[in-house]
Amino acid sequence: MEVIICPDAEAVAQLAAAKVERVARDRGPEPVIGVATGSSPVALYDALAARVASGELDLSDAHAFALDEYVGLPPGHPESYAEVIRRTVTEPLRLDPARVHVPDGRAQDLEAAAAAYEDAIAAAGGVDVQILGIGSNGHVGFNEPTSSLASRTRIKTLTARTRFDNARFFASADEVPTHCLTQGLGTIMAAHEVVLVAQGDGKAEAIAGLVEGPVTAMVPGSVLQLQRRATVIVDEAAASGL
Ligand code: GLP
Repeated sequence: MEVIICPDAEAVAQLAAAKVERVARDRGPEPVIGVATGSSPVALYDALAARVASGELDLSDAHAFALDEYVGLPPGHPESYAEVIRRTVTEPLRLDPARVHVPDGRAQDLEAAAAAYEDAIAAAGGVDVQILGIGSNGHVGFNEPTSSLASRTRIKTLTARTRFDNARFFASADEVPTHCLTQGLGTIMAAHEVVLVAQGDGKAEAIAGLVEGPVTAMVPGSVLQLQRRATVIVDEAAASGL
């Protein structure tokens, strides 16, 4: 795992976008990009979108797999990750919507949906580059503390802290779903490369645990210490606990 400290959030976005673009180009005509929701990668997506808009990057043959989805939100709910990915990734990066996958949080059989998601990633040849943010409690995807380091896509219960953190996207904290489908830590670790971005002092504790703490299920992101091709790109505020 490599850690890069940038002077500010814009530099984080530019460096991360350049890394994603390089992997997307290197890994053949149909790169598989793992995409994260949350505010952390938004500037990275904006940087990639600018490259697409200028004609310097074409991702129309890329495949994309989202990390996670809430369970039980109605179809078209603006905060469902299917909608968030459509707004922040599929449209600005001009991806083919038929090649963009999000776990089905409305499936009758959630376990079958989780297994089907793993199958779809495998059928695409695995993820070439996984983009990640990190939750303030160290979660990646929705792998909350105590998640198995070897886990695959499955149903998880959201912690009170994550529901509190994400309440800003909903009318009230009560509206934040209690469960999700998320790729497991084992799924994320299987990506060829991982690029994690974090900005701001609210992430300092999580980044310190990820980078300098023991590898532990209590800080799920710490498993990236075992990923040789993981790059953690942070601004000075997010690095302030190192
Ligand atoms: C969310 C997502 C994660 C994301 C994290 C941080 O709950 N499931 O994939 O990395 O929380 O969000 P943000 O980037 O908005 O701080």
